[in-house]
Amino acid sequence: MDYNELCKEIKEALEPLNYIFSMFSVASVLLKDRLDGVNWAGFYIVRGDTLRLSAYSGKPACEEIKFGKGVCGKCAETKQIQRVANVHEFKGHIACDSASNSEIVLPVFMNGKFYAVLDIDSTEFSRFTEEDQKGLEAIVSIIEEEIEIALNY
Ligand code: SME
Repeated sequence: MDYNELCKEIKEALEPLNYIFSMFSVASVLLKDRLDGVNWAGFYIVRGDTLRLSAYSGKPACEEIKFGKGVCGKCAETKQIQRVANVHEFKGHIACDSASNSEIVLPVFMNGKFYAVLDIDSTEFSRFTEEDQKGLEAIVSIIEEEIEIALNY
């Protein structure tokens, strides 16, 4: 995967947009479409000690996840990237799409404040390598820059 190209594509797609929800929608669709073996990509936004489903691309997903629950909740609690090679071995994993076998969740900050998580699922085991993690961190940085100047609706 050429993450430089994907970064460029996502930056160009988000730049003309004005609203965070629109940006999350477009980013989700591009991530799911461009990354091989990905069956779900999307965002949960922070509301108190709960993550709430925002824009995504994939099958229906649960609306709320408490901090500490599942892979997303672990990311929210620790503010650390969670890269899980086999979700079936992750204690408390929340299975929204039973086809998912591996997952990566990254924290998203807005003006230094924890704002959302980006969750990406794959049907392949061990889909996300260290290189993917680095590439996705770069994509999250672009998303963070864009949402800082967007309207929060
Ligand atoms: N698997 C996630 C839940 C969200 S769905 O994958 C979209 C988790 O364990 O937190």
